[in-house]
Amino acid sequence: MSDRSVTESKSAESRSTGRRQPVFVLVGGTGDLALRMLWPSLAMLDQDGFLAEDLRLISIAREAITHDAFIERVSAAVTKRSGDALEDGTLKTFTDRLTHLPLDAYDTEWGAKLKAEIGEPENLDIVFFLSTSPSLFKPLCERILEAGLNAAPNRVIIEKPLGRDLATSKVINDSVAVAFDESRVFRIDHYLGKETVQNLIALRFANTVFEPLWNAQSIDHVQITVSETVGTGDRLGYYDEYGALRDMLQNHLLQLLCLLAMEPPAGLSADSLRDEKVKVLKSLKPINASNVLQNTARGQYGPGYAGDEKIAGYEAEKGSPSNTETFVALKAEIANWRWSGTAFYLRTGKCLPTRTTEVVIQFRPVPHALFGTEATPNRLVIRLQPDEDISLTVMNKAPGLSADGQQQLQPLALSLSLINAFNGNGNKPPRRRIAYERLILDALNGNNAAFVRRDEVEAAWAWVDGIAEGWEKAYPKPQIYPAGTNGPTSAYTLLDRDGRVWND
Ligand code: BG6
Repeated sequence: MSDRSVTESKSAESRSTGRRQPVFVLVGGTGDLALRMLWPSLAMLDQDGFLAEDLRLISIAREAITHDAFIERVSAAVTKRSGDALEDGTLKTFTDRLTHLPLDAYDTEWGAKLKAEIGEPENLDIVFFLSTSPSLFKPLCERILEAGLNAAPNRVIIEKPLGRDLATSKVINDSVAVAFDESRVFRIDHYLGKETVQNLIALRFANTVFEPLWNAQSIDHVQITVSETVGTGDRLGYYDEYGALRDMLQNHLLQLLCLLAMEPPAGLSADSLRDEKVKVLKSLKPINASNVLQNTARGQYGPGYAGDEKIAGYEAEKGSPSNTETFVALKAEIANWRWSGTAFYLRTGKCLPTRTTEVVIQFRPVPHALFGTEATPNRLVIRLQPDEDISLTVMNKAPGLSADGQQQLQPLALSLSLINAFNGNGNKPPRRRIAYERLILDALNGNNAAFVRRDEVEAAWAWVDGIAEGWEKAYPKPQIYPAGTNGPTSAYTLLDRDGRVWND
């Protein structure tokens, strides 16, 4: 039987059981994200047995390449990304599911041509992934609507940049809302697909030891750092329009902040979680022109090094002057009962010395100094990248005697390396999954808890807009830092003002 007739017989089977046949339509199927992340994620899900046997994978792009050339390109991308994890036979099974359709979003026959391939919508359960520029969301959603491919249970996945500010984000959200109601719009923040980020929820809410201390009475401040060694590379065109504030802080860092600061949700349903996250975003104290200089640091990498590689600097790479920041640090305050008095310091940047994502929970000092030497306040460090480990610094008595009878103290770390913990029997450590694997699987299963709701995105933009407008008025030029260093000096002044230091 040919591959096509196998698929056809599977869809006939789905019809006879009354079950809709699942179809994943990836618009932008020959694009960079699709080849680097999305097809490899789907191939790994297939290998691990997570995809329904009759799931069809349709690629749509303007590029008219032959079926064979498309399969070859996807196979090369999957092989490159998966490395040793790819097992014999995976590629054949996986690519048998694939079909490429060369279609233009403005072609009025778009829907008809897609239906000619996949069949009538009443028999199908379709997930669209629009991996295109957001400017194409409107025409694409119109095509989907015209063809009647938008009705439930069909759903759509979209990804940032979801606007440059609140106003443009609303336009994008409205263009998608034409075809899909909110419960069927899956907005990706790929940080929410990371195993380690999901573990923050487990750490907070599956343990009793942390929650009684998780408040301003016990926690002095929190640091969230996402540092990258890479520069802007071949994404400079996009990046120059957005900068670190919009590219990273508005989404990934604020999501981490929400997971750390939110109240315990009533359950793990999508809305319980997202309701709590929105409350955090709405409680952020505004930063605007009046306080942006005290509460933020803006930097741009200049000439320097990334490892051994010489970096010319952002403006030199761009070839013209630019006020786009490649580094941002800020002090966020959450005006609610739990957090009033605890500062949250966030920072992210490119061309920094290490690739790290880390959360530091700095506890308050003991209220009364009993010992001769000062007790270092407890500190919980949760490292999410590159390796996941959790360590809690606790004070100990240093072994030995002292002539004056005073006990000497010493801070020591209780530490948990998650790679080692899940590698107990000498087995290979579990494969580090691509964040998109979890997100695509959730979308296929209709579970949107790890996706971002419209009011969340908009609340994040509303807060970030204050900072961006404040910068325009009061802080138009980022401070240059040499590539390969920890960012501009203003990032250190930001904490210094409060008598604190970054955990470098
Ligand atoms: C993306 C940003 O969302 O996240 C990139 O657009 C950034 O600029 C990337 O490099 C970082 O993701 P990760 O998973 O490598 O930490």
